[in-house]
Amino acid sequence: MITDSSIPAETILSTPANHRKLRIGAVGDLHWPRIGEGELRGLFTQLGEQADVVLLCGDITDYGKPEEALQYVAHLSILKGIPILAVLGNHDYECGQADRVTDILERHGVRVLDGTAVEVRGVGFAGVKGFAGGFGDRLLQPWGEPVLKQFVHEAAEEAIKLESALAKLTTSTRVVLLHYAPIVDTVLGEASEIIPFLGTSRLEEPINRYRATAVFHGHAHHGALEGRTRDGIPVYNVALPLLRRAVPVQAPARILHVPIQQQVQVT
Ligand SMILES: [Fe+2]
Ligand SMILES: [Fe+2]
Repeated sequence: MITDSSIPAETILSTPANHRKLRIGAVGDLHWPRIGEGELRGLFTQLGEQADVVLLCGDITDYGKPEEALQYVAHLSILKGIPILAVLGNHDYECGQADRVTDILERHGVRVLDGTAVEVRGVGFAGVKGFAGGFGDRLLQPWGEPVLKQFVHEAAEEAIKLESALAKLTTSTRVVLLHYAPIVDTVLGEASEIIPFLGTSRLEEPINRYRATAVFHGHAHHGALEGRTRDGIPVYNVALPLLRRAVPVQAPARILHVPIQQQVQVT
């Protein structure tokens, strides 16, 4: 887990006195089997001890092969019944068998979000893979060749899927799970030439509109750990290679405590 003094081991969002907390453990870009069995087991063991819910932010496998997914899920028993939510990443699509990878993960207890939402112990989670397209004033626009319009359309569709997932949540705490980045701040550090391919601010709009509590993403292995949306919502890049460099301990993950609104007891 993150223990470096410059990065809090547990980030605690402000919690009103009448709220309890849910411990979220988030990490992305394990790229199984690149992570290796020892580190994977160490990561899951620590998450099992420190998290109430685990988020996997895409690039779960390295090539999106069903056999990779089958090897990966064999280690999930370490998490001992802790809810696991995931989105796929671009690597999970590489072999054109994303549906089979999803099916294997789901059959082993991982809830794969793709424009869908789920509530865990009073906290809402909305997830989508997302897509590329750049940020802010330099956002790629649907103009010119059909293939370029198709590229932009894909990003816009992912943003619409995220919006519809957020709209389903009735909880006061709403957490967003992505693979691609919704803001430029958490990809800074990457080569400038590839920044438009690491995410898109089209994903930021629904996050702000639905006043999400926090956002997790991966994909930018050389980006920055934290940033904020225009409206001040915290965004955490939890790509494992980035966490590893920031915190040179084995098996880092981001632990975030978020508030759970307690039900009012009517007697
Ligand atoms: Fe990755
Ligand atoms: Fe990726």
